[in-house]
Amino acid sequence: MNAPVKDFRVAEYPVDVQFTDRWSPRAFADKAVTEADVLTLIEAARWAPSASNLQPWRFVWALKGDAAFAQIAETLVPFNRDWAGKAAALIVVAARTSVTKEDGTESPNAYHAFDTGAAWGALGLQAHLKGLVAHAMGGFDRDAAAKVVALPEHHAVHAIVAVGYRGEASTLPEGLQSREAPSPRMALSDIAVRGSFSA
Ligand SMILES: Cc1cc2nc3c(=O)[nH]c(=O)nc-3n(C[C@H](O)[C@H](O)[C@H](O)COP(=O)(O)O)c2cc1C
Repeated sequence: MNAPVKDFRVAEYPVDVQFTDRWSPRAFADKAVTEADVLTLIEAARWAPSASNLQPWRFVWALKGDAAFAQIAETLVPFNRDWAGKAAALIVVAARTSVTKEDGTESPNAYHAFDTGAAWGALGLQAHLKGLVAHAMGGFDRDAAAKVVALPEHHAVHAIVAVGYRGEASTLPEGLQSREAPSPRMALSDIAVRGSFSA
């Protein structure tokens, strides 16, 4: 049996448990998710805030069994492919990196990564609230992923997210079993200062 998250994580201030209970396991159950499940996660991402409400985030998704799933999985580094290949869905998280101005030229959107990160955060929390797991990965070949999803001009791929139902840690290779636990965080005092960093 997987141990409860509260055995690993204690908040310093009272936050809703969704924030501490969400984490990124690697063991997936052999259980399918539906198109509606995936679109529900992306729906949550859709409501994220963004600079000038530009909504730069873009998602390309595939369910296990789709040809695209295998192609996306192939772009992952072997370490990630080994466990994420067992997920029920893969979501490529991309962003439009510029805005088209009135004269037809492109102006860089300095916030595309910041905003798309916020969207992924909402997606991950929605997955958790639905009883699903969403595990983001930066370990993949960006050029290969861009090719597989036919990434349009003025876009960048930021991450690939593995989605599915959580499985038992015992199904993972031995080296990963001991790492299958909610991670800690830096102390609040290490990440937040009042007034200025030099205070
Ligand atoms: C942008 C991004 C890239 C990540 N890349 C990987 C990855 O390539 N492989 C992996 O196993 N986990 C990856 N992770 C998961 C992080 O290691 C994990 O989110 C972090 O340790 C915090 O743990 P938690 O999500 O369980 O709270 C990534 C997470 C993010 C947000």
